[in-house]
Parts: sequence; C-alpha cells; structure tokens
Amino acid sequence: MVIYFSGTGNSRYCARMIAQNLGDRAVDAARYIKEYIPAEFTAEAPLVFVSPVYGWRMPKLFYDFIACCDIVAGNDAYFVLTCGSDIGNAGKQLKELCAQKRINYRGVLEVVMPENYIAMFPVPNEEKSEKIISKALPVLEKGIGCIAQRKPFPERRISLLDKAKSSFVNDIFCRYIIKSSPFRVDDRCIGCGKCADLCPLNNIELKDGKPVWNKDCTHCMACICHCPTEAIEYGRKSVGKRRYRCPEYK
Ligand SMILES: Cc1cc2nc3c(=O)[nH]c(=O)nc-3n(C[C@H](O)[C@H](O)[C@H](O)COP(=O)(O)O)c2cc1C
Ligand code: SF4
Ligand code: SF4
Repeated sequence: MVIYFSGTGNSRYCARMIAQNLGDRAVDAARYIKEYIPAEFTAEAPLVFVSPVYGWRMPKLFYDFIACCDIVAGNDAYFVLTCGSDIGNAGKQLKELCAQKRINYRGVLEVVMPENYIAMFPVPNEEKSEKIISKALPVLEKGIGCIAQRKPFPERRISLLDKAKSSFVNDIFCRYIIKSSPFRVDDRCIGCGKCADLCPLNNIELKDGKPVWNKDCTHCMACICHCPTEAIEYGRKSVGKRRYRCPEYK
C-alpha cells in the first residue's frame, strides 16, 4: 500500500506512479488526519510512505500519523521523500520510527520535484516544472524496481551539513519559520471555502464568508496555491509569484 501526504501534488504524483506500477493503491493520509480517523495498515504487502520534506525532515503531521497508525510488526516500510533540492539526513528519524513500530526500515528515496514553497522562494514556471518532473521519473522507476523486488533503496551518502540541516536547523525552522500569521486574503476572495476544505489541519475557518487562519499550520502551501482566484497572500513574500500545483499523474 502506498500512503501519501501532499500539499501541492508532487508527492501525490509520485505516490500514484508508484501505486500504479506496483498494482497497488495510493491512500491520502490527509483524509485520516483531517477527520481524526485512526488508520490501520494491516496488509502484509510493503508499505510505501510518500511525502515532501519540510526543513529536511518528514512533515511532523505525517510523522505523527505514521507513529499513531496500526501497522503489522515485521512489515517492510519504504520512504519516498520529494523535495525542491535535497532531503538532508531525513532518513535517520524514519529509521528510528520504524524501530519504534517494529517494522523493517527499507530506506529513503530522494526525489527532486518542483519547489512549491512560495512563502519563501519563487517556484519554477510550467516549462521548467515539466523538465524537473521528467528528470524525476527515472529516479522513481529505480525506486519502484527496488520495492517490487523487496530490495532496500540504495544507501545515501550523508555529509555533516546534511546532519545539521535535519537536526538543529530543522528545529529552528519549525520554531521560527512555520507560522500562519502572515496569511491574508484580499477582495478577490469569493468565499468558496476551498482553502478551508483543503487544509489538512483544519486551521482555516470561514468567518463572514472569508478565511481566517488559526495557529495550527504546517506550511503545506495547499491553501495559497489552490485558491481559484489567487486571493491569498503570505505577507509580501508571495506577491507576484506563480502559484504551484503539480499536474495529476496519468
Ligand atoms: C514548509 C516547506 C519546507 C520545505 N523544505 C524543503 C527542504 O528542506 N528541502 C527541499 O529540498 N525542499 C523543501 N521544500 C520543497 C518541497 O519539499 C517540495 O517542493 C515538495 O516536492 C512539495 O511536495 P508536495 O507538492 O507533495 O506538497 C519545502 C517546502 C515547504 C512548503
Ligand atoms: S479558496 Fe480563495 S476564494 Fe475560496 S474562500 Fe479561500 S481565499 Fe476565498
Ligand atoms: S493553513 Fe494553509 S499552509 Fe497552513 S496547513 Fe492549512 S492549508 Fe497548509
């Protein structure tokens, strides 16, 4: 089973490609997280967890979801992490998680996909995004080959910088960068509620037909990138930037 979390579609794209090639199904973890449904993955087939990295680690909400779900001990777990440039040493935490859950850690696959973090950086245009995705396909195909043969993903070389990024730099990032106070909405808002529906943490409420952001945000960029009228801005950082949405995997 392929279980994924995705803010703007890159990880969903990868999850669907993996599931289709393995003849398996892709399950969206956001459905469980949003509705507070306890998840059970009790099939013997390998579990493949797919998500973006946020600050060179798996997003906390997806990590907590895996930590809480019911998984058969002894099962194999593969991790596929999508990123804009690199995943640092994200595998370390996932290996520890597998040990806690008594499942077999089969490695982490780094898949470079288009950058989606418009609260911090510009995102690539459509043409560049297509090129990045086409470069990711052979990486995914190799990963699918490993899963199909039940071989571990190849070991990654980890530098001191990778270790720093996925440890204390991540702590600083989570503490000081991830916040929802700069989100605002302008008069292009038509009150459709899509931002609130998409928020995996139910962090957005509609008040008098307009969204209001609470404090429980993971910076997934789903609200700002999927607003049909581009009425959402993140302070001044997102002004004039393209909203990123990955095309669906076909
Ligand atoms: C909050 C946040 C943090 C991110 N941190 C990193 C990072 O540490 N390294 C990196 O290469 N990309 C980083 N990115 C880029 C995403 O990991 C990348 O674009 C990913 O494929 C998005 O996946 P999604 O479309 O499934 O949400 C970050 C994006 C966001 C929104
Ligand atoms: S998705 Fe956009 S238009 Fe719809 S309610 Fe949210 S901000 Fe308004
Ligand atoms: S408020 Fe927006 S960026 Fe924050 S978790 Fe919800 S959808 Fe994602």
